[in-house]
Amino acid sequence: MSYPYQIRSAEQYQAAYKKSVDHPEEFWSDIASNFQWRKPWDKVLEWDFKKPTIKWFNGGKLNITENCIDRHLEKLGNKPAIIWEPNDPEEYHRVLTYRELYNKVVQFGNVLKNNGIKKGDRVCIYMGMVPELAIAVLACARIGAIHSVVFGGFSAQSIADRLQDAKAEFVITCDGAYRGNKEIPLKSVIDDALVQCPFVKRVVVLTRTRTAVSMLKGRDVWWEDEVKKVETQGNHDCPAEEMDAEDMLFILYTSGSTGKPKGVVHTCGGYMVYANYSFVNVFQYQPGDVFFCTADIGWITGHSYIVYGPLSAGATTLLFEGVPTWPDAGRFWDIVDKYKVNTLYTAPTAIRSLMGFGLEPVQKHDLGSLKVLGTVGEPINEEAWHWYDENIGKKKCPIVDTWWQTETGGVLISNMAGITPAKPSFATLPLPGVQPILVDENGKEVVGNGVSGNLCIKFPWPGMLRTTYGDHERCRTNYFATYDNLYFTGDGCLRDEEGNYRITGRVDDVLNVSGHRIGTAEVENAINMHTGVVESAVVGYPHDIKGQGIYAFVIYQGHGDSDDKMARQDIAQTVSRIIGPIAKPDKIQFVSGLPKTRSGKIMRRILRKIAEGETDKLGDISTLLDPAVVEEIKNGKL
Ligand code: PRX
Repeated sequence: MSYPYQIRSAEQYQAAYKKSVDHPEEFWSDIASNFQWRKPWDKVLEWDFKKPTIKWFNGGKLNITENCIDRHLEKLGNKPAIIWEPNDPEEYHRVLTYRELYNKVVQFGNVLKNNGIKKGDRVCIYMGMVPELAIAVLACARIGAIHSVVFGGFSAQSIADRLQDAKAEFVITCDGAYRGNKEIPLKSVIDDALVQCPFVKRVVVLTRTRTAVSMLKGRDVWWEDEVKKVETQGNHDCPAEEMDAEDMLFILYTSGSTGKPKGVVHTCGGYMVYANYSFVNVFQYQPGDVFFCTADIGWITGHSYIVYGPLSAGATTLLFEGVPTWPDAGRFWDIVDKYKVNTLYTAPTAIRSLMGFGLEPVQKHDLGSLKVLGTVGEPINEEAWHWYDENIGKKKCPIVDTWWQTETGGVLISNMAGITPAKPSFATLPLPGVQPILVDENGKEVVGNGVSGNLCIKFPWPGMLRTTYGDHERCRTNYFATYDNLYFTGDGCLRDEEGNYRITGRVDDVLNVSGHRIGTAEVENAINMHTGVVESAVVGYPHDIKGQGIYAFVIYQGHGDSDDKMARQDIAQTVSRIIGPIAKPDKIQFVSGLPKTRSGKIMRRILRKIAEGETDKLGDISTLLDPAVVEEIKNGKL
């Protein structure tokens, strides 16, 4: 496969960028014409950020799986589409060629249809990182069902919330999942979630761990039995449903500053074009390269750069079930050598955690196949950047620091590997089609270079979110109402003298823990469910490995018989049960009161400073209802 729209020099980047701003419709329609459309679009772009309405390639008809699979069969049918590395290195790996992937997706598409799933139905997918997860995602897309993948680390309560919000009547899961030395009983978690979701009609369960599960008669079926039924029916065809470019492709839930996660909606046409365009250009993918993105498909990174971006480009994508540190800290490097990986795309938190194991696990490996390295999810500190550059890339692999969000569908700001220069800890320049703007609190543009502000985008790009599921007003207020006519990212940002962008972190009440977004309000709600808790306030603090850690200040009135340590563990456990282990507070400090203004608002700024250890920079506290409480909190800092 060739990519006529792949930018190959800095000059080409400048020219493409200019064209994308001067003639955006022509720019994107040229790119989109490289895909397979059943019917061309009527209009490239219609938009109004005030509502917001965003339509790309409207009237165009397509199916994304024809672009990700069918169109490659003739030339790439026998080439690997997915390489799967299991959690346990002793277990056999699997390779699915494009032909095999096609057969599996068609087969499972028919399973979905046999189970009553139709175009527009929402299907929740809660699985470990097995090839069947990608197959399930693609099978949904093939028949026009809307997938909503929920990361395998979320709790029963989180799944129930998402199922209810998406009104999803169908679930695909596994008996269990392996993650390092842990076995996660996925089906049993689903069973707990479904107690609150009587509207779920069908649960398809894949066998992976052979963990004992209970199957509810009439509701739960085994993946393998259903596949056999399709085989017996002799049905080897599953025509791809014709979708409008603006039909929903998937919902993916993400945290915001309110207590309830939002269902970010992406549509078929624009998302496909943008995931592919950004993949081909940022990573400079060359046919035959092996691309290894270490994210989980439960996050947007996995959607765009394990599944849709690579497959739409006819690439070989590596799917890894395990974790970087099990059985030892050389796991990534084993995989790189075993499959001659050319591009490694991971999170700063993983790099920092592996740095902690020293160089021994790295030096045992060749790593000579690597050409490009990437990072995503959080700011990368310079120390980690240099470690990655020197020890993994051996100073010959460009590092792309890719800034983007669940809402953006694909990378918006990044250097292009070997084409535009990298700068440690800077995401650098916007991709063609992306028009960033920095604004101050009043929404006034901050012009020039060597400045900082809140990062907004002033023009639509094909991969942007269209709505938040079931609540368009929420989409408007969250992203389009803070500043007039701008998409607000929620991130603070600095633009250096050369115009390079550096993301400095969230400016709202959202934490970024190990590259995962967690709303402080969500964690507070979970903490407050503990019977002994009166009130709580959660803030982030710098954490060596996770980037940000979770610090909770809690007013606790538990029973005198339990000691503080037990109570704190119990509260952490509550959060884990309500949201999932990723949201567990790292520190819980019991306090007798919280710093509040006279109108009762918690002064988080003060708590943040205390958690960060900057107790001498608290600023004016005289306006507080009870200034004495600050002294007590400072003295009790963990
Ligand atoms: O704060 C930014 C940070 O992660 C947020 C988006 O999180 P999520 O939707 O979960 O998507 C993560 C993967 C795309 C952003 O608002 N972020 C993401 N990438 C970077 C980053 N911060 C700094 N540098 C990055 N490269």
